[in-house]
Amino acid sequence: MASCGAQDSFETPDFNVPEALLRQGVNVSALPELAGLVERSSNLACSTACRSLNILPGFEVLLEDSTNYTAFTDAYWSTQQAEVNPICIFKPLSSKQVSIAILISRLTRCPFAVKGGGHAAFEGSSSIEGGITIALEKLNEIKVTADKKSVYVGPGNRWGQFYTELEKHGVAVVGGRVNDVGVSGLTLGGGISFFANMRGWACDNVESYELVTASGLVLTVTRKSFPDLYWALRGGGNNFGIVTKFQLHTFPIGKMWGGSKLVASSDFENALDATYNFGLTGAVNDNKGSQIISFANQAGYGPLAQAFLTYSEPSETLPSMFKDWSNISLVQDTTGPHSLSELVTLLSTGIPDGVRETYWDVTFKLDRSLFSYLVNTFFELLPNIVSAENLLPTISIQLLTIPQLQQMQKHGGNALGISTADGPMFIMNLGTMWTSPADDARIFKFNNDIIARVREEASKKGLNNDYIYMNYASGYQAVISSYGDENQKRLKSVAEFYDPTRIFQELQPGYFKLDGGAPLGTFL
Ligand SMILES: Cc1cc2nc3c(=O)[nH]c(=O)nc-3n(C[C@H](O)[C@H](O)[C@H](O)COP(=O)(O)OP(=O)(O)OC[C@H]3O[C@@H](n4cnc5c(N)ncnc54)[C@H](O)[C@@H]3O)c2cc1C
Ligand SMILES: *[C@@H]1O[C@H](CO)[C@@H](O)[C@H](O)[C@H]1NC(C)=O
Ligand SMILES: *[C@@H]1O[C@H](CO)[C@@H](O)[C@H](O)[C@H]1NC(C)=O
Ligand SMILES: *[C@@H]1O[C@H](CO)[C@@H](O)[C@H](O)[C@H]1NC(C)=O
Repeated sequence: MASCGAQDSFETPDFNVPEALLRQGVNVSALPELAGLVERSSNLACSTACRSLNILPGFEVLLEDSTNYTAFTDAYWSTQQAEVNPICIFKPLSSKQVSIAILISRLTRCPFAVKGGGHAAFEGSSSIEGGITIALEKLNEIKVTADKKSVYVGPGNRWGQFYTELEKHGVAVVGGRVNDVGVSGLTLGGGISFFANMRGWACDNVESYELVTASGLVLTVTRKSFPDLYWALRGGGNNFGIVTKFQLHTFPIGKMWGGSKLVASSDFENALDATYNFGLTGAVNDNKGSQIISFANQAGYGPLAQAFLTYSEPSETLPSMFKDWSNISLVQDTTGPHSLSELVTLLSTGIPDGVRETYWDVTFKLDRSLFSYLVNTFFELLPNIVSAENLLPTISIQLLTIPQLQQMQKHGGNALGISTADGPMFIMNLGTMWTSPADDARIFKFNNDIIARVREEASKKGLNNDYIYMNYASGYQAVISSYGDENQKRLKSVAEFYDPTRIFQELQPGYFKLDGGAPLGTFL
């Protein structure tokens, strides 16, 4: 086992990239584009890197002028990511190919990005202008272990198809709630699930990671083998290496109960009461339930709230922990007995691909009057953007209950920097869809203004918490520093050890880096 101590870094100062490539069976001197590159300072670094990857046997590379290239870039969830043009797209078939790509990127100094499910919203998150996009879609293994207690899953999988496969074995994992979202990005940033109150977040339920490091080594990271990396990968995002396989804890699942309850504005306060009670006591008394509530202005209806409720056991009727909902009049109700994959499909409706997207979030102590304040602020500021074409803005409340925060402490705790002492809390997250770039600025300002206003109100009552959830954060927010000084320092020291030349900080520049800044800068 390698660990801090005798050596002060995981990679020796005389680490030689061509030698590391040779150990992987790639002879740099035999590749015309790369031979002599060590001496040459080339501004064609990326076309060199891409053409070299392209001629390696069994490597699947899409170059900029190929027809499949456009189909690939178009398939990102948000237009902002789809608009980014890498020099090539590389689809590795093995962890060894991932290792070779990292080393060739180091050798050429061509920057790269890594794409899991491609659902991060802002540009450069899992795409890179003028670099190599390493797309993990072909690493799509799903293998339930013989004892059915865990599953090996490749980072190319998406939650919907993954759950459907797991259901054949009668098991589930703690994971995402929408079909097409990627297993890997969600799990690396945290991962809020229907099972959060009973089992914590997705990252709290990873048993091992297969990780390709900056030196091109393929490590199996467990709590025992590399405790520092294991901790850092639970919430640290893309800063430590490329995960080529996850081993996730599984648990038996049968039929569940759940669905959405749509509420008109006359009943918003009742729905917020129910949400508050769930966060304060409901989830404490019974950790099998989950809920998320979102508010939007729906064409043809006006203001609406959608509460999505689930219960992890079968029920024909409303589980008693949701009894507050029995007296709330509903515009529509899809709750009932459903499998996990059916629930995920229900929650996936109305989320199109291929429009402009922005996500933002902040965290507060649970407070009933702040709920009303944030909903009212959202509808009060909405006229500022309501004329934007194809607009769909939403504001959501997601509860960080005490039992959920307790589950986050297992396996030595995760890197997120939130504790039961801070709870119960909630994440306020905002998501907006629109289509014209001309509306970008005012839509970002709308989201930023809501956060500023609600933070100001919360500060009067001492309700602010610093934590910003990576997976819902905008490029104008600083995530890693929100984990607290101590955790940020610890994350940096882990990275310094395994990645002493800062490959995942500098050569992979996108998304939330360990210096803690906002990837797109501060919003002005
Ligand atoms: C419609 C929708 C529904 C959502 N629902 C939920 C939900 O229920 N719960 C929740 O917690 N979040 C949810 N999210 C947020 C979601 O977790 C993030 O968008 C997440 O980044 C998606 O992961 P991805 O693999 O699809 O994204 P990507 O854009 O591919 O990846 C995100 C980041 O992770 C990095 N990355 C991805 N894979 C790897 C890897 N294998 N190794 C190293 N780095 C990697 C990428 O480089 C990128 O920086 C949702 C988002 C959307 C758009
Ligand atoms: C690498 O390729 C060069 C040029 O073709 C060759 O001379 C050399 O022997 C090769 N090295 C190894 C270790 O195969
Ligand atoms: C392009 O995509 C098609 C359909 O997925 C596939 O059959 C074909 O092999 C791809 N071509 C290249 C060059 O990758
Ligand atoms: C629902 O309303 C009925 C009649 O007004 C009342 O008796 C009952 O206590 C209410 N239930 C809840 C859970 O509020």
